[in-house]
Amino acid sequence: MSAAPEPTRRLTVSDIAKLYADGTRIAMLTAYDYPTARLLDEAGIPLLLVGDSLGEVVLGYDSTVRVTMAEMLHHTKAVVRGTQRALVIGDMPFLSYSTADEAVENAGLFLREAGAQAVKVEGGVRSAKIVETLVRTGIPVMGHIGWTPQAKLGMGGKVRVQGKSPEQARALLHDALAIQEAGAFSIVLELVPGQLAAAITERLRIPTIGIGAGAGCSGQVQVVTDLLGLGSFIPRHARPYAGLRQTILDAARAYAADVERGTFPGPDETVRMDDEILAEALGHPLDRDL
Ligand code: KIV
Repeated sequence: MSAAPEPTRRLTVSDIAKLYADGTRIAMLTAYDYPTARLLDEAGIPLLLVGDSLGEVVLGYDSTVRVTMAEMLHHTKAVVRGTQRALVIGDMPFLSYSTADEAVENAGLFLREAGAQAVKVEGGVRSAKIVETLVRTGIPVMGHIGWTPQAKLGMGGKVRVQGKSPEQARALLHDALAIQEAGAFSIVLELVPGQLAAAITERLRIPTIGIGAGAGCSGQVQVVTDLLGLGSFIPRHARPYAGLRQTILDAARAYAADVERGTFPGPDETVRMDDEILAEALGHPLDRDL
């Protein structure tokens, strides 16, 4: 008798550590809604981040700074409902982890209320104490250093590659080590020169997940709308693997044209009833061509 197939189980940070130890490069994507999360899970993506990029790519804000805990929880719940296997990470929004108490309270909401398995926190040395508190509380944490969008205004307001000078490069290495020592299970490196990201990756014993940080990281993350070619602007570091923007435009235009021509809905999309019953209901004989 053949054994019953094992039920799909949710990946844990130990599974991610094992992928890293085995030398498997880790693919991570952002996700914000139920149907997309279902597809990404079916495709076998092990890490899904409900990023606060939600604000810019889904909610139409001009910055991630505007995203609230309520919005993050709402979208994280949808992503969790859409997945069975992926480890879902909730991105702690701006000002949700300014103090250790706030951080524990809000990270707790991601895990307890929304069903995420981990949270992500921006900042290196400056966030290390918060990361340590969360990890001690039993909350798996992903760090995020380099370009950190929540600090955009404090970093001069312009999106910039980080770590290009010797001082900045050393500071980034310190940031990475501080977050590792605080107990994070992995670290996002955003907009960091490829050689520096590779050097940081070599010095760590936890996986780095790069975005705009070259191929020398332990894994990569992309914003799913960039991957799918959905936005009107694709950043230089992204590679669109589909052209959904054009697909959606074509579909919407073809649909509108069919509605205007009267060719949608057609017989295949229309339910008919018995003409006699309708005639009886309406109390007079029907024109057969109706
Ligand atoms: O919010 C986000 O999507 C992110 C990724 C770019 C890492 O932080």
